[in-house]
Amino acid sequence: MFEGGEGSGKSTQARLLAERWGAVLTFQPGATAIGAQLRQILLDPANADLEPRAEALLMAADRAQHVAETIRPALLRGRDVVCDRYIGSSLAYQGHARGLGVAEVAELSRFATENLQPDLVVLLEVSDDEATRRMAAVAPDRMEAAGRDFHQRVRDGYRMLAAHDLDRWVALDGEGPIDEVAERVRAVVEARLR
Ligand code: TMP
Repeated sequence: MFEGGEGSGKSTQARLLAERWGAVLTFQPGATAIGAQLRQILLDPANADLEPRAEALLMAADRAQHVAETIRPALLRGRDVVCDRYIGSSLAYQGHARGLGVAEVAELSRFATENLQPDLVVLLEVSDDEATRRMAAVAPDRMEAAGRDFHQRVRDGYRMLAAHDLDRWVALDGEGPIDEVAERVRAVVEARLR
């Protein structure tokens, strides 16, 4: 699974890794037909009033649908799955940055996924300045518009999560040319999963 704040380059790296491994590439939120409707609600800037708890539950609902419809069936067919965001996003964004509590949000994701945990979580880290620069290039959705402090807390949350679960998480430098970052990812994945 790939995790990271906005502008961390994880979508590009998830795609490159999936291509190299012949894995199923997918993402959250929004990869199923039902999830796409949830994503619409979650990211629409018009929904500025969405409550943090409602946001957490909608993210969990997307995850439940996605696991049942896409991820578990792929694993049962013997496929590897590379997912652009998973439980770690809810822990960093809703649990830490929104202040709902990492343990509470983890429990919600356990319920949503029937405790389907990733083998490896790759956290791509970029500096605050680089993330801000990359985010400025796109029209912000509701989450991206949440402000500099919120996104700083997201990055802090990710750093804490990676530091507390060294068996599952690995933090990598996400700065530099795409192929150099891809090489860092390749080395880590081969060392940890082969
Ligand atoms: P994306 O832009 O990487 O597709 O992700 C959509 C946004 O949703 C992004 O701002 C991160 C956020 N998000 C959460 O807040 N919690 C979650 O559990 C997930 C999967 C995404």
